[in-house]
Amino acid sequence: MSPAETTPQTRDLSPEHVLRWYLDAGVDEAVGETPENRLKDLSQPVSITGPAPTPAAIPVAAPKPAAPKPAAPPSQRAGQEQAVRSAVELASKAQSLDELRAALEDFEGCALKKTAIQLVFGDGDPDATVMLVGEAPGADEDRQGVPFVGASGKLLDKMLASIELDRAQVFISNTVFWRPPGNRTPNAGEIAICMPFVERMIELVDPEILVTVGGPATHSLLAQQGSISRLRGHWFNFETPQMSRPVQAAPIYHPAYLLKSPAMKAPTWGDLLAIRAKLDSLRSPS
Ligand code: URA
Repeated sequence: MSPAETTPQTRDLSPEHVLRWYLDAGVDEAVGETPENRLKDLSQPVSITGPAPTPAAIPVAAPKPAAPKPAAPPSQRAGQEQAVRSAVELASKAQSLDELRAALEDFEGCALKKTAIQLVFGDGDPDATVMLVGEAPGADEDRQGVPFVGASGKLLDKMLASIELDRAQVFISNTVFWRPPGNRTPNAGEIAICMPFVERMIELVDPEILVTVGGPATHSLLAQQGSISRLRGHWFNFETPQMSRPVQAAPIYHPAYLLKSPAMKAPTWGDLLAIRAKLDSLRSPS
């Protein structure tokens, strides 16, 4: 491609034409007055700290070994580890969801915060019996500051309605609290940095059932590496040292995936019915 094709045409530099050129190039958000390379600190993984939840007795296929990723430069690793330590300290001090939200508002350790419009904390009943954790806020969530309000959120609402739940009765959040640029999947470092807050959130909500929505939430919260297609349909235990009992956890397909792969709605319907049945069994007197 010649330079002439990659720059706005010199003969038409009207604002409309320049904006159209940026849109065509995939730039859909204005996040600052001056350009800045915000991706320079992201990218590399650090190990996910925190408890290793116990898988339930149901066997799942042996996880495929993850492809080795290039190690982060030592200075970057040290920065991520420091951010995780600071997240653990801040999160553990929060005694309520309001305090946890305030701690996250002040937290500067996650680079996603720099490119996002605002914090997307959580939504629903703070005393919910069912809590769902998705992947990451998208553009609609970033604009509104509420998780799952875009197209996949609308489908999630329908999925909940199909088992007679609505979002006011459950609590919904994500593995990271800020939108990754361009809606990319959050990387391991970003998830590790936010994880102490997610775990504290689960401790504070103290649900009976945890639903991990999609691969990243399932892998990071349940310490499982298999594909979501093998993990869904099974129950796992999620527990932290602060919890008095394990929470039963069910992975499901992410609604964004279901929108692209409607054939997977059938097995998901089965997963939702299993969640409903579990909920009913917890409520029925023994
Ligand atoms: N997808 C997610 O995983 N979370 C949201 O909040 C929105 C879309």
